[in-house]
Amino acid sequence: MFKFLAAVPQLWLRVLIEVGISFAAVFLVRLLSRKIRFRHALGHLPGPEPPSWLWGSEWDVYVSEPGKIYLDWAEKYGRVYKFRGALRSMMLTITDPRAVSYVLGAEHAYDYPKPKGARAWFKLLVIKSPLYKLGEGVLYAEGEEHAHHRRTLSPAFNLQATRNLCSIFVDCASKAVEKWTEELDKSPEASLEFDVQYWANRISLDTFGLAGFSHDFDTLSNKKPTGLAAVLDSLTDSNASFSSFVLHALLFTFPSILKAPGRRRKMLGRAREAMSEITTRVWANAKQRGEDDGGKTILEILVDADSENELTEDAIAAEMMTLIFAGYETTSCVISWTLHELSLDPSLQARLREEVSANPSDPSFDDLYEDDKLPLLDAVVQETIRLHPPILELHRVAAQSGTIPLSTPLPGTPGQPASDRLFVPRGTLIAIPLNVMQREKSVWGDDADKFRPERWIEYNNQREREKASGKTHLGAERRLMAFSEGKRVCIGKTFALVEIKAVLVILLRHFTFTKARDIEDFVSFVVRPRVKGEKKSTLPIRVGKVV
Ligand code: HEM
Repeated sequence: MFKFLAAVPQLWLRVLIEVGISFAAVFLVRLLSRKIRFRHALGHLPGPEPPSWLWGSEWDVYVSEPGKIYLDWAEKYGRVYKFRGALRSMMLTITDPRAVSYVLGAEHAYDYPKPKGARAWFKLLVIKSPLYKLGEGVLYAEGEEHAHHRRTLSPAFNLQATRNLCSIFVDCASKAVEKWTEELDKSPEASLEFDVQYWANRISLDTFGLAGFSHDFDTLSNKKPTGLAAVLDSLTDSNASFSSFVLHALLFTFPSILKAPGRRRKMLGRAREAMSEITTRVWANAKQRGEDDGGKTILEILVDADSENELTEDAIAAEMMTLIFAGYETTSCVISWTLHELSLDPSLQARLREEVSANPSDPSFDDLYEDDKLPLLDAVVQETIRLHPPILELHRVAAQSGTIPLSTPLPGTPGQPASDRLFVPRGTLIAIPLNVMQREKSVWGDDADKFRPERWIEYNNQREREKASGKTHLGAERRLMAFSEGKRVCIGKTFALVEIKAVLVILLRHFTFTKARDIEDFVSFVVRPRVKGEKKSTLPIRVGKVV
């Protein structure tokens, strides 16, 4: 085929070179046509100039304060813009509310699946079993397989199921109270510095063990964490490094980079093994229970609802591993950030303590679920999640070319008329920075960057007044996006909110919290607190007994 190769004497070498050149040509043509398609469709969008040809803007994203660069770009370029990732890849960024609802909503969610790079993470969590119809776990699944996962999991996350778990949330928080009280009673000082992040992790993990599958991780008894608890600790407390930057930057272009041997991969392997061990132990018990025993834990409910007997031990291990991964750190970080915010505002803390102490009995599910039973607590938790969303951004990819509707039309450019629709070619990577949507001044007011829980109470009152007067909505809708929305909305949202509130009620009734050090946030899997200038995630707060 290539004349210049006639000089190569070996036939096998000629064939090899020809095949290589052909592949490279096809790759280049595809790359070029993709580039032309993207430039034609998205070229008119504004966005930052990439500082590096190789890495695009990825380094800036990686080293900036978590989420800060998205806030800066939103201010400069608006609700729809693009930026370059590594190797000239292009990321469309949207915070336009209509566009976000379209991409995540019930009708189109499967047209905008998670990119392979994001799914590759979730695949590492579980070992695919040929016996397991549901594949690799709900976080990984797409399309009909995902819908099947949601149907399987939903009985374990409905209101009644979470209502039944409420006493576990209270018991685990009470164990932490015992431990802290012991420490304080032993000390000559009236208050002590506790690493609240460490304890929030312990509460969250012990809670999930008991609520998920009656397994007591027993990390609240001051023992050094072992087994799965130890692996999760080291896995989630990772520090920034150049290798983790490269992994992060190349993930969407080369998802298989995750297959490279490394510390995280090794730790995930260990976590899977530890999870399988636990499942083997608890699985048999759950299966042996009588039909009428009435499941209480997530595992028992899943087994009870499994009328087609398709759940195997592997399936349960996969599902539980996914749930721990999705729910453990997210919840513990919100508990930590709330206590941090309260430690900065003694007057708010005192008002909240008064509210949660008015009735000294254990809080009921209704107290914690309804937003008007403990209104200040509800407002404080919502405000914490607004300003400290554990997951900063969602990623999606356009499975097919299509048009996304916008609430605010894009201004016209010389080659492109103004339009309230955006054409998005197949393969477009989409980022949805949740933190930006939760801080937009046009929606949340000029004090959007401030921690001010009262805004939720004012907003709820305003809505009540509007409802009573029959008037439709007066201001921009305030959506808490931290749990996502639509078809893939967080299945553990109620579980998380009720747990977080239960823990706060119990802790606030017994202890006062005072700022001990300057704290900053950093991204591990989620956005965690740490002492300014330090590497490890800790949240030291001075804790004293309520007298
Ligand atoms: C404050 C705590 C939490 C936050 C902020 C949070 C946030 C989120 C977000 C943003 C997503 C969507 C991810 C995406 O589509 O890319 C998600 C999905 C999910 N979350 Fe949560 N989560 C929390 C707690 C929990 C808990 C406690 C559980 C389980 C016990 C849980 C289980 C899940 C699962 C299974 C999914 C996948 C749902 C699906 O793809 O259909 N989460 N969560």
